[in-house]
Amino acid sequence: MRNLLPATEENIRLAASVIREGGLVAFPTETVYGLGADALNPRAVAKIYEAKGRPRFDPLIVHVASREEVLRLVEEVPEEARILMERFWPGPLTLVLPRRDTVPPITTAGLPTVAVRMPAHPVALKLIRYSGVPIAAPSANPFGYVSPTTARQVAETLGDRVDVILDAGRTRIGVESTIVMLTEGKAYLLRPGGLPVEEIERAIGKEVRPYSGGEVLSPGTLKRHYSPRTRLVILKSWEDYYRLRGRYRRVLLLLPSPAYGVEGEVRFLSESGDLGEVAANLFSILYEADRSGYDVIAVMPVPEEGLGRAIMNRLRKAAAR
Ligand code: TXA
Ligand code: MG
Repeated sequence: MRNLLPATEENIRLAASVIREGGLVAFPTETVYGLGADALNPRAVAKIYEAKGRPRFDPLIVHVASREEVLRLVEEVPEEARILMERFWPGPLTLVLPRRDTVPPITTAGLPTVAVRMPAHPVALKLIRYSGVPIAAPSANPFGYVSPTTARQVAETLGDRVDVILDAGRTRIGVESTIVMLTEGKAYLLRPGGLPVEEIERAIGKEVRPYSGGEVLSPGTLKRHYSPRTRLVILKSWEDYYRLRGRYRRVLLLLPSPAYGVEGEVRFLSESGDLGEVAANLFSILYEADRSGYDVIAVMPVPEEGLGRAIMNRLRKAAAR
């Protein structure tokens, strides 16, 4: 793959010039790989939608390399947003704020708001800095498919639809950022993610509620997303698993932590049962499993707290038919 390059200083500079010229660059963040373009260039942003096969009604996250940069993109930064940016940036938190006219409508899919985030990855931060522009970037996967945690995965699924893919190894967190919308003194959770919502609530001292408003359409609200082609089943009990074993020839069982005495093909999502490790391994294990010819992938659920919310959110959407 000619476009798959190690993320050296020289190649990051090359990638930055591709961004400036309106091209597409896939790059690592601490969550997943992103597919980036100049967020202020409508023709460049259009290429993102095209490369992913992503519907135009689905807005993008704009990535910045400093807190100050946000001021050029949004009408106002509410006090609570300031607190969250201070506390959690750079990191896996995206804030949805009122958009300024500097951001083209295609970037926000016509919404009056814009999603902003400062990623905690040196390569991402350098790429944004050297480009000199904010970078719009969804996850670097074909629309609806498993999100990429390695550069190889980007190369295998998007290939030459991307001008440059910067390779900096496996991403650390493995699930996308948590998205919070702050409006009229209230905080809404649009997507659980790499930053546990409990930590956000503690920082601003108020409840972050699930958002149920109809006007914002996020993949977060699409029922099926992040999906392998192989059928995925979330188990409610061991009986469920043995039923699948009776019905299908090749069943892969995914368990959150090591267990003994289970017959059949098993993979552990972590060595220790640590949810951070489960999140970090989740998409790459689903991706590999999807290419291994199983009839069905069965997975045992994790408790729905902390990172467990993001993990179960991705699993439910991946399992939806
Ligand atoms: O960790 C991440 O967030 C990764 C890395 C690359 O930064 N990016 C990512 O982007 O997950 P994407 O496009 O796969 O998901 C972005 C989500 C979508 O659900 C989109 O609808 C929502 O953000 N979103 C973007 N702008 C929005 C807005 N103005 N209002 C509500 N939701 C928005
Ligand atoms: Mg995505």
